[in-house]
Amino acid sequence: MTTDTKTSIEVALGPRSYEITIGKGWIDGLGADLCSSFGKNRFVIVTNPEIDALHGARLLEILSAADLRAETLSIPEGEAAKTLDTVSKIYDFLIERKYGRQTTLVALGGGVVGDIVGFAADSFLRGVGLVQVPTTLLSMVDSSVGGKTGVNHRLGKNLIGAFKQPDRVAIELDFLQTLPEEEFRSGMAEVVKYGMIRDAEFFDYLEANVGRIIGRETDALTHIIRRSCEIKAEVVSQDETEAGVRMILNLGHTFGHAVEMLTNYREIRHGEGVAMGMMAACRLAEDVADFPVESTKRLGDLLQKLGLPVLLKRFETEKYLGAMASDKKVRSGCVRFVIPERIGTVVIRDDIEDDEVVAALEASFSGTE
Ligand code: GLY
Repeated sequence: MTTDTKTSIEVALGPRSYEITIGKGWIDGLGADLCSSFGKNRFVIVTNPEIDALHGARLLEILSAADLRAETLSIPEGEAAKTLDTVSKIYDFLIERKYGRQTTLVALGGGVVGDIVGFAADSFLRGVGLVQVPTTLLSMVDSSVGGKTGVNHRLGKNLIGAFKQPDRVAIELDFLQTLPEEEFRSGMAEVVKYGMIRDAEFFDYLEANVGRIIGRETDALTHIIRRSCEIKAEVVSQDETEAGVRMILNLGHTFGHAVEMLTNYREIRHGEGVAMGMMAACRLAEDVADFPVESTKRLGDLLQKLGLPVLLKRFETEKYLGAMASDKKVRSGCVRFVIPERIGTVVIRDDIEDDEVVAALEASFSGTE
């Protein structure tokens, strides 16, 4: 089966509700869609030079063909550019060109672009329109949906930001064809996460379809992106600002962020950290929640087939504990862990003792198996 149609999911948030559209070859119709909702607005596609070269001209043409007033702004690429300085450059562009409140920013790119542009859209003139057009698997299934936006501070990642729900998320599978292999695999860690937290059948599907997923077959991609977005939409609709259940989306992230931090955010991609972190969370869960050892093995096998790492890089356990304690999610004092009870079901726990964490770390280091 090939899919040349589009499918939509609603993120139900009352007046801030919006649609995620997923499909292959459908993006050419985005201009007409936007025209009917924001026809009077001026649009700025904000992207980086690499993505601009790949997809920028196509998107600009799509908007222009629908008679929308649009231009492109290129911002520097990469995590190092995720700063207030880059946000300021977006403000400069908008103010110098006299953009008013009837402005829509279109974030074309991966998570970094989406986070920066989302924050600029939230703060420019106290809020303008925002359309997310993600180009990486990770941003399609995670960061473009749910409204977390922001930039880094020199003392920590994502410490400055806002919840700014987009007006629309437009997912075009064509864009995945140019995504480097390691980026694609990194995004798969977040896809696996959705099976682990909410849907054992989806986990079974991933196990049974690794070859078709890695081969980027359209129907497999459509299914995994759709199911991931459905689960994310469901969770975000229940808890927009992460006061409770939304925390389950952080499975593997407490260990994962720690290893990313300890390697100075240079060696390990976010998804790789999440893969290693989910394995460590399962080992912890074997101890504190009777999570079955064979389920940890199933997760490890799946991640390895997807080309993802399953063992944490070795550092002193004290360093891990320190990195976990400095994560912004634990600024209020206690480290919260998302603990799997079985595949498809997790709980949030804040009663985990350091020695239990240390045992899970010791069992998860590379060179220990
Ligand atoms: N990336 C996790 C969340 O959006 O809550």
